[in-house]
Amino acid sequence: MRADPSLDPGSPAAGRGAASEPILRTELLSIRFGGLAALSNVNFELPREQVRAIIGPNGAGKSTFFNCLTGVLRPSSGRIMFNGEDITGLPSNEISQKGIARSYQITNILPNASVLENVRIAAQSRRHAWNMVSHHTTFPDINAKAEAALQSVGLLDKANEAASNLSHGEQRNLEIGIALATDPQLLCLDEPTAGMSAAETHHTVELVRRIAEHLTILIVEHDMEVVMGLADRITVLHYGAILAEGTPEEIQENPRVLEVYLKT
Ligand SMILES: Nc1ncnc2c1ncn2[C@@H]1O[C@H](COP(=O)(O)OP(=O)(O)OP(=O)(O)O)[C@@H](O)[C@H]1O
Ligand SMILES: [Mg+2]
Repeated sequence: MRADPSLDPGSPAAGRGAASEPILRTELLSIRFGGLAALSNVNFELPREQVRAIIGPNGAGKSTFFNCLTGVLRPSSGRIMFNGEDITGLPSNEISQKGIARSYQITNILPNASVLENVRIAAQSRRHAWNMVSHHTTFPDINAKAEAALQSVGLLDKANEAASNLSHGEQRNLEIGIALATDPQLLCLDEPTAGMSAAETHHTVELVRRIAEHLTILIVEHDMEVVMGLADRITVLHYGAILAEGTPEEIQENPRVLEVYLKT
């Protein structure tokens, strides 16, 4: 048994975690793909209610970091603590139940289902454990949750359209809605504005900013205007290791970051 006081059910840190402890912490997180060290000894700490951007060159390990956090990949070594609880190596459905949601770099929706069905499936997945015994009473709750998620991403008026009929930008926002429908505490967004027009990007930045009022957000983004406009702090990954961390102003002036990434 671990001696972590946050695991004591009588402790105020049990459940959602104490307000002062970081929502997420990684300790010496590493993952190898054959000979490639995609993440090496990443020590990362994220306080509650922060918007943190993760930036870095292609192949730096940003998506791999998300894949480890969300149970898509099992780290080779190290620990991932969420709300003070060790979640390292848990399957993705259990991590979703605990309150981490993510959107994918490549859109991952059900094209033939309606917009509402896409989010309703996600809302239901979070409730799976007790849905079996109380299906009828939870049904309106799931619909309400799904509609609230669509409202947050500005797609409620398209609820009954097939997801495939949405524009690229709308499909990316639907994916954020799907993540929100699982009622997360931590939302991980992997390049949410990729492939969007300037107007769509602006709209998505606004909606992420609104969502950030209620959630902790980790966002991987290449668009520096988006990053600088949204992030409270920025972590720079380079070859699977943290190169720098700081406020947007500090990162923009950091010579090592300019050298490997921001210099164009
Ligand atoms: N499942 C995998 N199997 C083998 N190698 C992988 C796997 N996933 C990622 N990699 C490799 O790990 C490294 C990090 O990849 P990752 O996708 O995390 O980079 P990234 O920072 O998200 O890059 P980008 O900005 O291009 O999205 C790359 O060299 C990639 O080729
Ligand atoms: Mg990536």
